[in-house]
Amino acid sequence: MPFDAHGFLIPGTRPAPRAVPTSIARPPYVGLAAPPAYVGDNTYTSAEVELIRAAGRIASGALDAVAEAVRPGVTTAELDRVAHEYVIAHGAYPSTLGYRGFPASSCTSVNEVICHGIPDNTVLREGDLVNVDVTAYLDGFHGDTNRSYRVGVVSEEVDQLIERTHEAMMRGIRAAKPGRAVNVIGRVIETYAKRFGYGVVRDFTGHGVGSSFHTGLIIPHYDSSPAYSDVIRPGMVFTVEPMLTLGTHEWDQWEDGWTVTTRDRSLTAQFEHTVLIHEDGFELLTVSE
Ligand code: MF3
Ligand code: CO
Ligand code: CO
Repeated sequence: MPFDAHGFLIPGTRPAPRAVPTSIARPPYVGLAAPPAYVGDNTYTSAEVELIRAAGRIASGALDAVAEAVRPGVTTAELDRVAHEYVIAHGAYPSTLGYRGFPASSCTSVNEVICHGIPDNTVLREGDLVNVDVTAYLDGFHGDTNRSYRVGVVSEEVDQLIERTHEAMMRGIRAAKPGRAVNVIGRVIETYAKRFGYGVVRDFTGHGVGSSFHTGLIIPHYDSSPAYSDVIRPGMVFTVEPMLTLGTHEWDQWEDGWTVTTRDRSLTAQFEHTVLIHEDGFELLTVSE
């Protein structure tokens, strides 16, 4: 994803997929066209939650390491290398590598890229925005998280988009309480985003996560009511990962089959946590300590 004459991203040159030591266990989908179907109810025992938490801690630590590396002049491939090295140094597998053929250990989504950007030789410039999404797989469980970073000093518009996207995620998470339908999450996120006139991406969603990367449970980030009325229960684990834009929620996909951009090339930010639901609240499973 270098930049064209207008400053918009174009596909770049990708490094070879990174190696994972054979001592690290691979998720079952690696080498398959699609993952095996998940059978389960998206709730986990406390022992299983500890395994998701351990995976999530590694994914979060990888994002801490990426944060140290983000600066003007760095490539998205280098950010991916940092994430990859951190994940494997902690004995985990980077879940995106080989997931439905995805060729890298993280997704790096710059400026108008909504999600699923492929790390390449794109050199980040002062004022850019980059989202890095890392999922770690350890002892049979995944933890999935992403953050949007400022490259050097950014415009106030970009600064606020990043801040408010994080706030939107947290408001959605706080609304997730047992007995409510999952569509409460997107209702809260969309209501908040609309205050600022932001676009709310609809076609890429949060999801159940745990023993599978994507369990089939869908968590919309817009007001989908009365659809997506699965009831939130204690012990449930899923992601909340809103993508907000400075323009449209409509999107295009590159011929690489992955990279998703805003149709109007407006800037877009995202944050993601893997969340555990308790009787009386929630816990973030993708935190570093
Ligand atoms: N981590 C992303 C998510 O939040 C999924 C990326 S799938 C990939 O669900 F194949 F694009 F890496
Ligand atoms: Co996710
Ligand atoms: Co993710």
